[in-house]
Amino acid sequence: MTEGQRHAWERWWPEYGLDLMSPDAPGPLDLDGWFGRTAPVVLEIGPGTGESTAAMAAAAPETNHLAVEVYRPGLAQLLMRIAEFGLTNLRLLRADVVPVLRDRIGPDTLAGIRVYFPDPWPKRRHHKRRLIQPEFVALAASRLAPDGVLHLATDWTHYADQMRAVCDAEPTLRGGTVPRPDWRPLTKFERRARAEGREVRDLLYRRV
Ligand SMILES: C[S@@+](CC[C@H](N)C(=O)[O-])C[C@H]1O[C@@H](n2cnc3c(N)ncnc32)[C@H](O)[C@@H]1O
Repeated sequence: MTEGQRHAWERWWPEYGLDLMSPDAPGPLDLDGWFGRTAPVVLEIGPGTGESTAAMAAAAPETNHLAVEVYRPGLAQLLMRIAEFGLTNLRLLRADVVPVLRDRIGPDTLAGIRVYFPDPWPKRRHHKRRLIQPEFVALAASRLAPDGVLHLATDWTHYADQMRAVCDAEPTLRGGTVPRPDWRPLTKFERRARAEGREVRDLLYRRV
């Protein structure tokens, strides 16, 4: 981490973050207790440096936002954004999302799950490493409350096709490809994808 990121980590992590990769991590999450209020919770998976996460949390103060990311320098940057924006409705987990969903978040809990620009693993032999696979989508869907929304975005056409096929096949989800919602912030990453001529696709599915 840079010096600024280290400083942000020391100053803000104890207040806003929980490291579930440490061996003494607690069990199931008490989300209402951690946020200090009862409100719908939206989980973002892999926020990176959190450019869109912070903007979406600022734009929806009535919603509790939870971001799970393995990359510590990215989380540190997101901590800086929390401080800069004065956000009180965003909490961070350092963890692999799969055990978090499986062991720490109960069924029928989340108002939304967002996965924006997950690692594309473009080589065919690496496709099995992609996050959006049938087993993962079934797990994620089970953690959504009825009517909860799974929102995916990618700039890789092949991955978008895979997302579509996997989500269409999940019996508890209904939805498909949608026009880019204007409430999803346009990030540096997406601007570059556009500039390089890659089409960005959004997929929105609702838990039935
Ligand atoms: C390509 S980046 C996208 C970042 C951001 N969403 C954006 O739009 O710029 C994907 C992120 O997902 C994180 N990630 C990958 N697998 C993960 C997992 N199993 N659990 C949590 N985060 C994960 C990576 O560390 C990385 O920061």
